[in-house]
Amino acid sequence: MKNILFNLIVITFLSVLFTSCNNKTSKSKTTNIENKSITQAEIYNTKGYELLKSKCYICHFEKPDPSKMNQMIAPPMLRVKEHYFPNYPNKEDFINAVMAIVKNPSEEKTLMPGAVKKFNLMPKVIYEDEDLRLIAETIYNLEFGTAPKVRMQTMELSLNNGEKWVVKPETYKIIQEVGTKISNFNADSVAEYNQLGKDVFDKAKFVLMDDSYSGELFNQLHNFFYGIEGEMHLLIAEKDIKKAKQTTENLKIKLNDFYLIFKVK
Ligand code: HEC
Repeated sequence: MKNILFNLIVITFLSVLFTSCNNKTSKSKTTNIENKSITQAEIYNTKGYELLKSKCYICHFEKPDPSKMNQMIAPPMLRVKEHYFPNYPNKEDFINAVMAIVKNPSEEKTLMPGAVKKFNLMPKVIYEDEDLRLIAETIYNLEFGTAPKVRMQTMELSLNNGEKWVVKPETYKIIQEVGTKISNFNADSVAEYNQLGKDVFDKAKFVLMDDSYSGELFNQLHNFFYGIEGEMHLLIAEKDIKKAKQTTENLKIKLNDFYLIFKVK
């Protein structure tokens, strides 16, 4: 009886999931590709999507698939878009940024330091500019939907048996510099706050990509970074100056948590 009930719940859950997915795709929202209106469903028949599949999905899944976690060799494209879109909401900027990083993957330019740490830098592969442009445009236009983040470890910061974790002076310095920058920051335009978000991200990400950290200490640094990543993304994409100021304030508070958990020798 218990089993039947369980199955019923699963089936109900799956059908709800299914119908809600179907609704999404059939809602036929239109997006503008090259001045032509194209629906989400139509994107799947474009040359851009064909190229995306054949050139990029060799390594990238389109969306996270929990049953294939151990086959992942690159972040799912949905995650790539989650990182690129807030930074480049404008289509042309988005296309240029994706083209630039694919042509020349680099730690300096990465927006996905966690992925770089986990999978190593994306290999440099030569693509035709024209193809790459179509691919980038497709990623911009395609609504990948959302997927909850699946995390292996708990994301909570914790001490090392009651003691602070010891980090390298370089790491400490990065956090101090970022903290000072944020504390001293005051601007009148939201664009300057967006830029602050980018600058902070570009510095803080090196904490995560430091190859000398491993094991539980790395997990803790990852948890810390993960904790401030949301605020950095918000700040980068914020349109309202009041909210940007509030986000900056929140970021400052969260950054200070660093000193509760980590220290230098
Ligand atoms: C051989 C495997 C492979 C192929 C093929 C591949 N990628 Fe990647 N890609 C990766 C890996 C691994 C990462 C994560 C590491 C990184 O970000 O550099 C990545 C990351 C990215 C990122 C995020 C870059 C960053 O760090 O900010 C973008 C954008 C991207 N890929 C786009 C593409 C596009 C577009 C294609 C097809 C034209 C493609 N990739 C093909 C392996 C691949």
